Amino acid sequence: MKKFVETLADKETLIQRAGELILSKIEAAIKLQEKFTIALAGGSTPKPVYEFLANQSLPWDKIHIFWGDERYVPPSDSSSNQLMARQAWLNKVAIPEDNIHPMPTNSENPELDAQNHEAEIREFFQIASGEFPVFDLILLGMGDDGHTASLFPHTTALQERDRLVTVGDKNGEPRITFTVPFINHAQCVMFLVTGANKSPALEQIFATEGDDLSYPARLIKPQGELWWLLDREAGIGLKSQN
Ligand code: 6PG
Repeated sequence: MKKFVETLADKETLIQRAGELILSKIEAAIKLQEKFTIALAGGSTPKPVYEFLANQSLPWDKIHIFWGDERYVPPSDSSSNQLMARQAWLNKVAIPEDNIHPMPTNSENPELDAQNHEAEIREFFQIASGEFPVFDLILLGMGDDGHTASLFPHTTALQERDRLVTVGDKNGEPRITFTVPFINHAQCVMFLVTGANKSPALEQIFATEGDDLSYPARLIKPQGELWWLLDREAGIGLKSQN
């Protein structure tokens, strides 16, 4: 793992830097393999990055969109991560619908939906069970409790070592989420974290010693690159380190 930590002056500067980094990953992946696979983060932070990407001229037919986690709501629900990304980005560009792979939340059985999405991912990557597909890029946010994707503190999802997709639990509310080992197989994982409210958790996550189950983002150690893009407020408590 190669780790990069950048503290940007403010959220706008962070968004611009994130957008430019993502474009560089897209260009490199398509040059190498004629396709780019990305798993999107939910929440509010990444929305302006998606709006930045909506203004780019890219080979959309070569770009494949997944999500790292999803709230267990219909895609029309205002809290849907899929809806946010479609409204901010995907509805504005000529990306084929077949290139968009939302997490299913329609069977009224989160475990079944997680299993079905895992099967879809394995089919897309042509990867047999027991192996982990490698995403070119996985975007992640971080909650002020140190969760990432829908991997919440002290939940059973943190223990999953074999599956790609499992059921997360946010105070009893089901989520669909990539697992820790799946995320850690990515070529590149990029955290986007802004705001003073994230600073205490970041200090725990960056500490040499710490409680991984209390701060699940500590578990994210990808085989490839790990990027932390922080704004000054979020990064205020960290010594500069790479
Ligand atoms: C979600 C996200 C979640 C999010 C963090 C940070 O579904 O909410 O995937 O992990 O990234 O909670 O959210 P904000 O960007 O809104 O602070």
